[in-house]
Formats: sequence, structure tokens, C-alpha cells
Amino acid sequence: PGVCDIYASGDTPCVAAHSTTRALYSSYRGPLYQVTRGSDDKTVDITPLKVGGVANSRIQDKFCRATTCEISIIYDQSGNQNHLTRAPGGGADIGEYPGGYDILASAVAAPVTVQGHKVYGVFTPQGAGYRCNTPTNVPVGNEAEGIYAVLDGTHYNGECCYDYGNAETTTNDEGKTTMETIYFGGGNEYVDGHEAGPWVMADLEDGLFGSDIRGKVPAQPPLNHRFVMGIVKGANYNLWTIRAGDASAGSLHTAYSGRRPEGYYPMNKKGAVLLGVGGDNSFRGVGTFYEGALTAGYPRDDIEDRVQANIVSAEYGTISSSTGPEIEIGSRVSFDSGFGFVSHNGPNVTLLGNLSTGSVSKASTFIVREGNGDKTCFSFESVVEPGHYLRQANYTIFVDSPDSTRDSPSKNKFEEDSTFCTEPALDGSDGVSLRSWNFPTRYLRTHGKHNSLHIAQHGGAEDWDSVKNFYDETSWAIVESA
Ligand code: AHR
Repeated sequence: PGVCDIYASGDTPCVAAHSTTRALYSSYRGPLYQVTRGSDDKTVDITPLKVGGVANSRIQDKFCRATTCEISIIYDQSGNQNHLTRAPGGGADIGEYPGGYDILASAVAAPVTVQGHKVYGVFTPQGAGYRCNTPTNVPVGNEAEGIYAVLDGTHYNGECCYDYGNAETTTNDEGKTTMETIYFGGGNEYVDGHEAGPWVMADLEDGLFGSDIRGKVPAQPPLNHRFVMGIVKGANYNLWTIRAGDASAGSLHTAYSGRRPEGYYPMNKKGAVLLGVGGDNSFRGVGTFYEGALTAGYPRDDIEDRVQANIVSAEYGTISSSTGPEIEIGSRVSFDSGFGFVSHNGPNVTLLGNLSTGSVSKASTFIVREGNGDKTCFSFESVVEPGHYLRQANYTIFVDSPDSTRDSPSKNKFEEDSTFCTEPALDGSDGVSLRSWNFPTRYLRTHGKHNSLHIAQHGGAEDWDSVKNFYDETSWAIVESA
């Protein structure tokens, strides 16, 4: 059976079921998700390979060849039409997309395997989110519900709020009790004195909770598994529960089960469904989602244990995040745009056309290293200044050392800022495009006068994001030097 067949067998049916990796019902054959490509704005639905099976990622790979691609719809498999689409701006944060909407997730940023097949998860950076504000049959008020999600335990931060679950239909903070979601992250913004994690907690609005006491993390060690299974469920009397575990092995651990925090009973759930953001569209949290569902009714532990066993048997596994032409770790490379080479003078990065001397200067040469933030991607160390790497800060490229204090209001880690994943060149040539690890809809680009480089988003808000020449200007020839 699929996980939602298991939930149904316990009289707690899924009322919203989302996954880009596989069908959650053994009889599901409909679309799992939709991708939109940048080259012509066309869309395609990704369906399971067979009824009840894993996603047919070949449909995506073919459709997204030599173009940018984003996940535009995560379909609800329950039949309730609670599809997740681009989240609107809200009381806390207004998105970068026209109309104040959030950005979408890259379709290629979170490749994994399920039962040996390559599939893709939903990597939401800061600023990205999905929502359904016109829900059907999702619990409201004090009605009982269950929520589960399978997430990447290594992609998180401590900011507000990477959530999946039930929230306000208005995208505004409507006060305590108006949300009930899984939260995943370090939670330090609301969990006083704790900066580690990650944990599965609950976002109950105006507070992240690991128990009935504000500021207390769940009774479990941090969940550092590559694949994390998390559960939050609430009864229609004063009981709620957090359970979590390794989605690849073993059983679930109950991290909290007991009464609601003060001020959080009875609940006043609003029934919208969101992913990657907080109730008021607070979008500074980050995370990666593979599958999840909301149920009507409070699922029994033994039902959830069977759901966990089903997820373990799906065999989530890792695969390289880079798909581009091979580049050898330790080799010395330069990146040629056709207008010049990526070059640096101290921290400042520009393009320099210096082949006239017959050789590429040292300022344009970088040593290929394993990605500081992901070993299947790459970091590029300066030859002139060892220990300094190409990195992005606020979407602009610099060469910095890891202890650089460069202002990066997005508070991303240097390791992530200095990691790029390769793809076959977006212009269809045999070169490479370099995708930012932590903002994967963005690619290394030269634009305008070439006196600064950026990670650019096709059709984004800045001048350097412009659609014109986007694919050319994000495609690089790799020149190897001795
Ligand atoms: O409860 C934490 C967050 O507080 C919610 O997600 C958001 O709506 C509010 O800002």
C-alpha cells in the first residue's frame, strides 16, 4: 500500500498528500508535480513511472534540457485539489516575484533516489514558498489532524519558518492556535538559548514548540539524518504529539506527547496548507521536502509506525547534485564567458580578457575543490590567495576566506555561499553552468559591463536577472591550465 492507504486503514485518511518523488496511494496514477521551464514558459506534469510508483524524472530531464526549470505545482494526490502553488506575500514577507509572490523551487536542486530511481525533491531557499489558501476538507478549528513529512536533515537553518502543514488562509498572523504545522530547523529564533538542532517541532503560530513549554526543545537528540521523518499531530481534546526518526532506517521516537502549551487550547486551525514558509509568509527558513500529507483525525501510533516502515522501504538514497561536464578535483581551471575570464583582484570579481598573452593569468585561475557545503558540488579556490574561494553574498560574487565577515543579511553559511553545482551549459554548448548551492534557481552570470558577477535568476528582480541573453551569459567554457 501507499502511505495514504495506510492512514486510511486507520480511519485517518489523507486530506492533502504531496510528493514530487512518488505516489502516496497504491492506485495513484495522476500528476505528482508540474515544472515550468524558463526558455518558453511551457509546463509539463511529472507522473509516476507506473500506477502507485515513483516519479518519472525522465519527463523532467528531457523537458528541462538546456533551460532553467522550476517546480510550479505540487499536486494534491488526495482528490481534494489542495495543490501547492507559488505562495503569496503575507504579513511578514513579500516575495521577489511580481505581485509580491514568493519564488519557486528549482526543479533540479534536490536529486535523490527512491528505490534506485532518480527523482527530485523540493529545495526551498529563503524567499521560496508554496501554499494553498483555498483548502478543501482540511481540519479547521479544534478538529483533530495528523501531519507527516520526509525532509532533508542537512538542509535547514534557525530562522523563521520552514513549515509544512495547516495555517491561515489569509497569509497573515491570526494569533496563537491558528496554525498547526511541522517545523524543521534549528529554531533558535523562538527557542531561547538553543542554536543547534535540527529538530522537528510544531509551529502553532506565534511560537515554535518542542513541548508544552515555550523555549524547550523536543526530548530527542538533533535529527542529523540525511533523510528525516517528522510527525506532528493534534487531537480534538487537549493532546498533541511530535514524533520523528530516520526516514532511511529504524523506528519513530516520540519526542513529546501531552497537553498543549498555555494559550494554545482549544485550537483554531484555519485549514490552509503551506510548505517552506510561516503562517504570515515568513520566508527566512530553508529546507528540502520529499513527501508529506495531512490527515483528518488523530492517527494512531501503530498506523504511523507502518507509514514509517513504508518510507524506509522506499529506500531514499543520495545521488550527485552535479550533472555537468566532469571537472577534476585539484585541477586548475578558468571560466571563459566569451567576453573574458572570471578574474579577481582581492575580493572583487570581474571578467578579464587576457588570453592575448597566450596564457590565462593567475588571477583568472582557480583550483577545483570538493564543494565546501556539498561534496557532490564544487568550490573554487583562488591560486593567488590560497584559502579564498569564489562565493556569493547577496547574489554578488566575491573571493573571500571562510572567516570573512562580509555582510550577508540572508545569514547563509560561507560553506553554502561558496558551493556551486555543475550542469551542462544552459545555452546547449558543451560548456558548464554553475548553479548556486543555496539559491539553486540562480546561476553564475556575467552581465552588462562585466565589472561584477552575480548569481542570477532567470527573470528575477535585478538588472542582472534579465531574461535577455540569460542562457548565454550563464554558460561558461572551462579552460584547464597546467
Ligand atoms: O509561530 C512562528 C511564526 O510566527 C509563524 O509561522 C508566523 O506566522 C509568525 O511570524
